[in-house]
Amino acid sequence: MSFSNNKLRGEVNIPGDKSISHRSIMLSSISNGKNIVKNFLSGEDCLSTISCFQKMGIKAEMCRKNEVIIQGRGLRGLTKPIQNLNVGNSGTTIRLMMGILAGQNFESTLIGDNSISKRPMKRVTDPLRLMGAKISGNEDANFTPITIGGGNLSGIDYKMPIASAQVKSSIILASLYANSPSKIIEKNKSRNHTEIMLKSFGADIDVNGNEIYVNPVQNLYSEDIFVPGDISSAAFFIAGASMLKGSEVLIKNVGLNETRTGILDVLKDMGGDYEVLNKKYVCGELMGDILVRHSNLNSTIIDSKLIPRLIDEIPIIAVMATQAEGTTIIKDAKELKVKESNRISSVVSNLKKMGADIEELDDGMIIKGPTKLRGCSIESFSDHRIAMAFSIASLVASGNTNIDNTSCIEISFPHFYDILKQITY
Ligand code: S3P
Repeated sequence: MSFSNNKLRGEVNIPGDKSISHRSIMLSSISNGKNIVKNFLSGEDCLSTISCFQKMGIKAEMCRKNEVIIQGRGLRGLTKPIQNLNVGNSGTTIRLMMGILAGQNFESTLIGDNSISKRPMKRVTDPLRLMGAKISGNEDANFTPITIGGGNLSGIDYKMPIASAQVKSSIILASLYANSPSKIIEKNKSRNHTEIMLKSFGADIDVNGNEIYVNPVQNLYSEDIFVPGDISSAAFFIAGASMLKGSEVLIKNVGLNETRTGILDVLKDMGGDYEVLNKKYVCGELMGDILVRHSNLNSTIIDSKLIPRLIDEIPIIAVMATQAEGTTIIKDAKELKVKESNRISSVVSNLKKMGADIEELDDGMIIKGPTKLRGCSIESFSDHRIAMAFSIASLVASGNTNIDNTSCIEISFPHFYDILKQITY
């Protein structure tokens, strides 16, 4: 089913993975030596990470397009920042950095933008305090500004109460600095880029199913990194091509780490038409090309096991579900409420305005399709993934769509509209 005359056709290269780009700067900064990061995502979030480490004495230069050279100063070589560390809009920056800062022997304060000031940090504060970190901040250090006085950490045996790679990674990073081993247990496996990259930097880290073991180390080696394309950015073209009749798009060099490919599993279940080509491992991460064609989609059910593997893709999956035959249920996704915006209400209110048959749940949404979407005024809530999901929805819809504040797309996908224009017919 496709109600619109637009189609997507052609070949695209999408920018580097946001999660891996953040980690590349953080681990390079605390390694011993020079690191070159290629295909780095020069989006605002990752630039915030660079700027925070520069304030702690790290030399990081953008030498060529999307290539950064970082001179690591070792695990204990960061210096006390003179100013507050501003993470901007980036949850990954603040949460992962809290783990690193917990291990330093100086005090530092983290601040961010209006959206960050509303996002919960207690999930990180709690385990780091159990390890011995001294953390203060608004509402018992749940909200920014957050001040961390680190040093003298002990290892932790921690069962994760929520599925969050940011929390897991923060604990793993603090564990590098502890005086005893740590064990972290996840109920549902979240993205594992920290574990993969740390292993290649020589950390003493082992993974057995959903259990992660970290032994403290004295040094990390330096290591050049190639960042694969971000499947969370590719998702907009995957969904667009699947929904729009006559589409065929080849998306090159996309990260295919199985902790991130939930959208491909969902698309298969919905009857999507795609192939994965040229698979290869680069720096421990699987990557390849994805060829997607239009198909008649069916509804699907998404619950707790899949959620961490597609958490950032839910806005665009919800748009796809409006074009699928049957009732799609997305549940166990309460985490969406504490992303850059409340993504349950942002998606539901905007899709309702476009004429979708959608019901809001406390932990997700129910969507009945297919429905003909109508163009209208859309609120991005200054959330990059909402702005991009509804840019794709506007191609499916009849009439004109206006989306407010699309500049937030710079957070994760510079040149999104240029690339979209190149392949829209
Ligand atoms: C990220 C993990 C996810 C994701 C975010 C990036 C990461 O957050 O939503 O965009 O890089 O670790 P949670 O792990 O908190 O769900």
